[in-house]
Amino acid sequence: MSSQLNYSLMVHGGAGALDNVKDDKTAMRYLESIRTILEHGREVMELGGSALQAVETCASLLEDDPVFNAGCGSVLNEHGKVEMDAAIMDGRDLSAGAVAAVDNIANPIQLARMVMTESEHVMLIAEGAMRFADHCEVKRVPEDYFYTPDRIEQLKQARRKGKIMLDHDDTEADSEDQKYGTIGAIAMDPYGNLAAATSTGGIVNKRLGRVGDSPIIGAGVYADNETCAVSATGYGEDFMRTVIAKTISDYIMIMGLDAEQGTQAGIEYLSRKVTGRGGVIVIDKHGNCSSGFTTKKMIHGWIQHGGETFCRF
Ligand code: GLY
Repeated sequence: MSSQLNYSLMVHGGAGALDNVKDDKTAMRYLESIRTILEHGREVMELGGSALQAVETCASLLEDDPVFNAGCGSVLNEHGKVEMDAAIMDGRDLSAGAVAAVDNIANPIQLARMVMTESEHVMLIAEGAMRFADHCEVKRVPEDYFYTPDRIEQLKQARRKGKIMLDHDDTEADSEDQKYGTIGAIAMDPYGNLAAATSTGGIVNKRLGRVGDSPIIGAGVYADNETCAVSATGYGEDFMRTVIAKTISDYIMIMGLDAEQGTQAGIEYLSRKVTGRGGVIVIDKHGNCSSGFTTKKMIHGWIQHGGETFCRF
């Protein structure tokens, strides 16, 4: 399906070697989910919704699918617990909301949006974020909502490997067999407004209290109507150190680049400075879609200028 309306939408579902995608059936499972979620985003746009509504809808649906590392599919930390991070940003006025180290919440991205709209702050963490969730009457879900057999097995494997994912000196070979899961959605609506959303369970076997790039404005997420919308997925520490989402926005602003050139410049910077592992999706202020990654694969999909839906690794 394509539309008369000029909107663009991109989502991602994590980057890595994705060695678990060994057969067509698993690959189709991922791609069908991405496609379905993009079609929901399309519907939001066709019904006159904003970029912000579209990214919140898509990110929530990605959080609701257990194959992705966010919401109910979140990976487990060193104590076998879920600690999730999420952020959302509105490119119209740079307003933003983020939560970090939250648990028992089905859709952290919705809580992040409430931080943006219902509080005077940008980020709330851990117990403070949970108290804010109670204040906003966000329903808590039980712990077993998150414990999928895959995530328990993944934690066992990470422990067997000697907590490799916690060591900054882990080898590329060791880290490449991981999926650096995060989910993200970015959009430009027909009015030219940009928005971005990123949500994650973080990294398998991470230390208690570890926060990644996803809720950090400018690292895992960024949106500015003057430049672009960006969502990142990958090894969060690399993205925080390079402030990658804002770096791409700055490249676009200062050098007058489009989405593809900005993405290339950002990925080159990420690789050169920190040998960064992961990828980004980018929509520029004209609605051009682009993606780039340093890992073998990144699950992602897009609708550009209201056109066809594309999904790929
Ligand atoms: N990019 C997700 C994380 O590192 O937590």
